[in-house]
Amino acid sequence: MSKEDPGKEPSWKADFPIESKRATHVSRREFAKFLGLLSGAFALSNGFIVIKAMAFPSEKLEGEHFVANAAEVPVGEMVQFEISGEKTIPYILIHLEENEWRAFEQKCTHLTCAVRYRKTENKIECPCHNGWFSADTGEVLQGPPPRPLPQLDVVVKEGKVYVRERERENV
Ligand code: FES
Repeated sequence: MSKEDPGKEPSWKADFPIESKRATHVSRREFAKFLGLLSGAFALSNGFIVIKAMAFPSEKLEGEHFVANAAEVPVGEMVQFEISGEKTIPYILIHLEENEWRAFEQKCTHLTCAVRYRKTENKIECPCHNGWFSADTGEVLQGPPPRPLPQLDVVVKEGKVYVRERERENV
C-alpha cells in the first residue's frame, strides 16, 4: 500500500473534482425554485382548509345550550364558550346592548383564526389578516373572509343566556 504525501491532495479528489465552495453554493435559480415550491405548498394547504370548510359545514346544534348568567356579561362585553359535539366548536357571546345578544362561531371564515369583539369599534375583528365582521349580523365588512360568521340564536330565560341553532340562515 502506497503512502500519500500529507501535503499533496488526496487522489480521490482527482476522481471527484467537486470544489467544496461549489458544493455548498445555492444558486439564485435554485433558491427561487425553493421559494416557488414553498409558496405552492402554502397555497395548496390554504386551499385545502377552505375546501374542507365548504365541503364539511358545521354540524347542526341540537337543543339549547347554557352559556352564562346574563348578569355576568355586562353590555359591551364578550365571553368565549365552546359546544362539544362531533367536534368542539368555539363561539363568542356578545352583549351588544340592553336585551341585545349575539353569538357567533369564533373561527374566522378565512383561515380559521380566532375572532374577537372590539367594543370600541362595535365590530368583530380577525387579527390575522385584518378581517372585520358586523357584530350585529356577522357579515363581512372588510378583508379577505369569504363568508359571514356562522351565527346562533340567543335566548335569555330567567337571567340565564342560552344559545340554539339559528332558525333562519344569515341573510
Ligand atoms: S384568518 Fe381571518 S382574515 Fe384571515
